[in-house]
Amino acid sequence: MEVLIVETPDEVARASAARIAQAIRRRREPGGSVTIGVATGSSPLGTYRELAALVRAGELDFGGIDAFALDEYVGLAADHPESYHEVIRRVVTEPLGLDPARVRIPDGLADDLDAGCAAYEAAIEAAGGIDIQLLGIGGNGHIGFNEPGSPLASRTRVTVLAPATRADNARFFGTVEQVPTRSVTQGVGTILDAEELLLVAQGASKARAVAQMIEGPVSSRCPASALQLHPRAVVVIDRAAAAELS
Ligand code: F6R
Repeated sequence: MEVLIVETPDEVARASAARIAQAIRRRREPGGSVTIGVATGSSPLGTYRELAALVRAGELDFGGIDAFALDEYVGLAADHPESYHEVIRRVVTEPLGLDPARVRIPDGLADDLDAGCAAYEAAIEAAGGIDIQLLGIGGNGHIGFNEPGSPLASRTRVTVLAPATRADNARFFGTVEQVPTRSVTQGVGTILDAEELLLVAQGASKARAVAQMIEGPVSSRCPASALQLHPRAVVVIDRAAAAELS
């Protein structure tokens, strides 16, 4: 695992966007296709802002790129302002100029959620797998909505959100009661299948989880520790998120 510690959240945004831009240009060179994995939440917002600036400057083009989201809440209408369908449209698809038809998000409204999970896995495979997956980390060490206790070999499936995660995400909904209780998420094993992983974290509230991810044992108690198993995982964090590293 490569760990890049920078001073500020803005530097996390610039450094992570530069890595993604580099990966896209490198993979496109021989006329190859590119598939990116996108995360929601606050952590990657600066990254998307910097990528959008590169697009506006004509230095990067997301045309023809496929994208897969990490997760979606179960039971939220697609046009609910906090559904990840809506969040991805607002902060990723439109600002980066992705083709909406090429952006896939798990279906949290499917009558048969398990069948939807299997179809999502099949769609990732049909796209040739994810080339670069952007990730955030939960204060409890989750990645995607793989909460502590998630098997490291898990695949896309329905998970129950931890109380701490619902409390963290109450800021998007107003009250904790409004935060859905379940998600459809790529599994830890699904995430590990990506060619490259890029995790961003900022602020003191992530410091403990970041230390467990980087220096703790590889354990389902901290799903993000699975990044230690990946040959091409990069973690970009600011000074505050690095505070509990030894
Ligand atoms: C979002 C996701 C989550 C978040 C994590 C951190 O798609 O999968 O794992 O990355 O909950 O959220 P923020 O960035 O809001 O602190």
